[in-house]
Formats: sequence, structure tokens, C-alpha cells
Amino acid sequence: MSYFAAAAAHPNIAFIKYWGNSDDRWRIPANGSLSMNLTGLQTKTTVEFRSQLDCDRVILNGNPLSGKAFTRVTEFLDLVRGLSQRTERAEVISENNFPTGAGIASSASGFAALSLAASRAAGLDLDRTALSRLARKGSGSACRSVPGGFVEWQPGESDLDSFAFSIAPPGHWDLHDCIAIVSEEHKAVGSTKGHQSANTSPLQAARVEDAPRRLDQCRKAIKERDFSAFARVVEQDNHLMHAVMMSSQPSLFYWLPDSVQVMLSVREWRDQGIPVCYTLDAGPNVHVLCPASAVEDITARLKDLPGVKKVLESSPGAGAYLLPQEQDAV
Ligand code: DP6
Repeated sequence: MSYFAAAAAHPNIAFIKYWGNSDDRWRIPANGSLSMNLTGLQTKTTVEFRSQLDCDRVILNGNPLSGKAFTRVTEFLDLVRGLSQRTERAEVISENNFPTGAGIASSASGFAALSLAASRAAGLDLDRTALSRLARKGSGSACRSVPGGFVEWQPGESDLDSFAFSIAPPGHWDLHDCIAIVSEEHKAVGSTKGHQSANTSPLQAARVEDAPRRLDQCRKAIKERDFSAFARVVEQDNHLMHAVMMSSQPSLFYWLPDSVQVMLSVREWRDQGIPVCYTLDAGPNVHVLCPASAVEDITARLKDLPGVKKVLESSPGAGAYLLPQEQDAV
């Protein structure tokens, strides 16, 4: 007997960041967050539950996972087995078409695609809310890659009310993310560990307390397609999160000299009147955001910077979706 499904999901870039949990085990975040799914970049995942397997098998980008990364997936599959009352072990094959673990939210697209593929393969038909809640338990930001377009994660207080929903479809605003890749190396300290140290920074309480104000401003700017208001709050939120990271114990520092060079250039271009701003997740690569009208110019300028190895371009993407039921879908 075999149960197979294939799904895909895009990573997302957070405009208002998730950093720190009120409950680490279930990933109930300290504050709400807001993001956009990134079309073009994606994870494709197949899951097959098979009665012949005596343990789970997980292959990411052609390599079998082991250690902590493997355990994280197995524990997640245990949740799906618990929900569906299946006992079979699974084979998971997953591919990213972008650098893994370098601040481009590979865990977000990874666990969003895995939630959909694994739940379907196990015979479950979860709605978007249930799927977002499930994805959250694999990786917090993954709950935001389940719905489409511009997405808000309401923090909630428990598993039941902590999930993400779409606030505007992908076609609402032609906002582009030009990701300046300055390093493709896997980050030294992953987000999971980082969230656990957020409260060691004396700045975290102030960042969390002010989050509803920033969320209101960002939501409004997106709804009104007001790029200047959007740029102001996105950069402020980015600086607040990185200030918390840097002032935590142990201190986390994700920027490289080339990241700073990109940020300074973006500020200069904005001073020249170009609508552009930046944000960075837990990695050195810089997400440079601009409306469609400025994309060509910004991409060319980024490529001219000596520290920028390449630029990945993306615009608002759909939510997680099922792929045709072919065994070779990945
Ligand atoms: C800096 O969702 O990667 O990208 O739940 O431990 O997997 P885990 O953390 P993760 O944290 C994302 C942190 C961030 C900001 C954001 O995406 O909101």
C-alpha cells in the first residue's frame, strides 16, 4: 500500500519580522508578522508513506538528511501521522531552486510544501488555516508561505489561534524583491536558536511592544500601495530586529561588509529619488524592494556593486499548491 503526494511552495520575505517566541515548542511568536511570497523561487516536495519502510528517509537537494535536520523532519512527520492515524514511515524528496539556509527562508517554503504534501499523502484534506497551523510547527515563517500573496501571521496565544492568512492577493501590488546575493554559505546560527536568545536582549521587549503599530502601518501601506510609507516601516522593523540580534547574548551578527555596502547604496539611491528600500532576514543577503517601475534600474545598479555575486528577482507569489500526482514531479 502506498500513499503519495507532491506539493510546491514559495519562500517569503518578511516586511514585519518574526523574532522570538512566547512558546518555543509550538512556535507561538512573540509578535505578529507580515510578508510576501516570492514567486520564481520554490521548494518542490514529494512525500510517500510506505508500509515497507522501517524509518523515514529525507532527501534534500539530492543529499540524504541526517542529524538535527533529519530529526526536525521526522518529528514533523510524527505530527502528520498523529493527525491522520497513519503509522507508515515516509520517503520525502525535496528540491529548492535557490540557496538553502542563506537567509532566503528555505525552511519557510520547505515546511509549507512538506505540510501540504505530507498531509495529502496521509489522506488528510486540511483547509488553509489548518495547513498554516501545521506548517508553523515545522518552521514559524512556513505558516506564511501557505496562503498566497501578501500574508499576515496573527500571533495568537495557542496552537489554535496562531496562523497566517492572506491580506491581499499576489496581483494587488507589483512589488519586486531583488535579492542581492553576497554569500551562498549556510548560516552559522539558524533562526531556531536565534529565537531562543531574543529575550536576552533588553531591546526585545520594546520591539515586541511596538509591533502592533508597525503592523498597522505596513498593512495600510500595502493596502494603499504607498511605497514611501512602506519603505519607512520596513527598514525600521528590519533595524529593530537586527538590533535585537546584535544585542542578544550570545550576540548574533548576520551582516557582512558587502551586505552593508548594498544597504548604504540603497539609501543613496533613495536619496536620489528612486523608490527602493531593503530588509534582511537571518543571513547576509539583502532583499532590495521596489515597485515594478524601478526593477530594471535597481537590478542593473545592484549587479554593478562589486560584492554582489548575483541578483535573484521575484514578485508576489501564490500560496502552497499541489503538483500533479506523478512520481517524478520533483
Ligand atoms: C529572520 O521561521 O526560520 O526570517 O521557526 O525556528 O524555523 P523557525 O524560524 P524561522 O524564523 C524566521 C526569522 C526571520 C524573520 C521572518 O521571517 O519573519
